[in-house]
Amino acid sequence: MNPELPPDLRQSILATEFRIDSLTNVPEISSRLNECLLDGGKRFRPALVYWIAGILGRPALEVTHLARAAEWVHAASLAHDDVIDEANLRRERPTLNAVTGNRRAVLAGDLLLARVMVELAERAPLEVIRALAQTIESLVEGEWLQMEAIGVLDIDAHRLEKACLLKTGSLIRWCCSSSTTGELSLVLAKMGEEIGMGFQLVDDVLDFSPGSGKAVGGDLREGLVNWVAHEMMQIDPAARVQIQAALGKPEAKANWDAALLERAKLRVRSRAQNHLNRATRLLDRAMLLLPAPPAEHQLTYANSFKSTLIALGERTQ
Ligand code: FPP
Ligand code: MG
Repeated sequence: MNPELPPDLRQSILATEFRIDSLTNVPEISSRLNECLLDGGKRFRPALVYWIAGILGRPALEVTHLARAAEWVHAASLAHDDVIDEANLRRERPTLNAVTGNRRAVLAGDLLLARVMVELAERAPLEVIRALAQTIESLVEGEWLQMEAIGVLDIDAHRLEKACLLKTGSLIRWCCSSSTTGELSLVLAKMGEEIGMGFQLVDDVLDFSPGSGKAVGGDLREGLVNWVAHEMMQIDPAARVQIQAALGKPEAKANWDAALLERAKLRVRSRAQNHLNRATRLLDRAMLLLPAPPAEHQLTYANSFKSTLIALGERTQ
């Protein structure tokens, strides 16, 4: 999403300190978090916070704490996720667990979550803090559901959707809704869920696309039937045999029926598009709920946001 970021929002991201300070009893924890997780990343979630604040007419400086909280919760979830996935590399760097071992990586993730709550307790309304705590619950539930789906061939669309909403949609929902209150916040929350769903569906298409930087069908080899694999079986039940053979087998080299794979990817892309179109309509609805007619710069932010939603649906890497 960042390439389309308006220049002043890009500037807000650059001006934001995402590293955590070392004012703890054990400075090694913050330095490890900084070097393994907080120094890098796409800053997709903080970008959402700043962008929505811009649309609402709120200055970036008023929401810096929300942008940092979004990035920190995301980073804490990655610290734990890399332990769960036994991952050694993230963003081309050694993961926290690779550097410190699993036990310390879990503790460092916990510290980061606690830091979020300390910072928000000083600056954010209780309902924003409550919503973030609920988001963390959703992240855990989503990861749990995904863990239960490992190795399961017959995963139904409802279950896939639920895991996707919890694991990807929940934090994006918070990013989009935390800088306002009331009905406006609810509409933006719904919009965030739709963006999260669209984002994850496109990710699943990319997982089955060469040139995305990862091996084709990585989810499947890690034991996960994603949306594309699910659609392949819906279109042609005979694909089950091949999918079963690759499921959870890191070495598997599947030779997918190109036409079937294309049809499945097309279906998933169109599903993603539906979510992103709904997100656009919800943004329009949110604009009607603004307390005052939007100023020129708010409309500019809203228009660039909409173009980026379209670009998100067409994302190829
Ligand atoms: C990346 O998944 C992981 C997430 C989006 C969330 C993981 C959530 C938890 C581990 C629950 C605990 C949450 C907190 C806040 C402590 P992925 O493995 O599909 O993506 P990847 O390829 O980036 O690893
Ligand atoms: Mg992972």
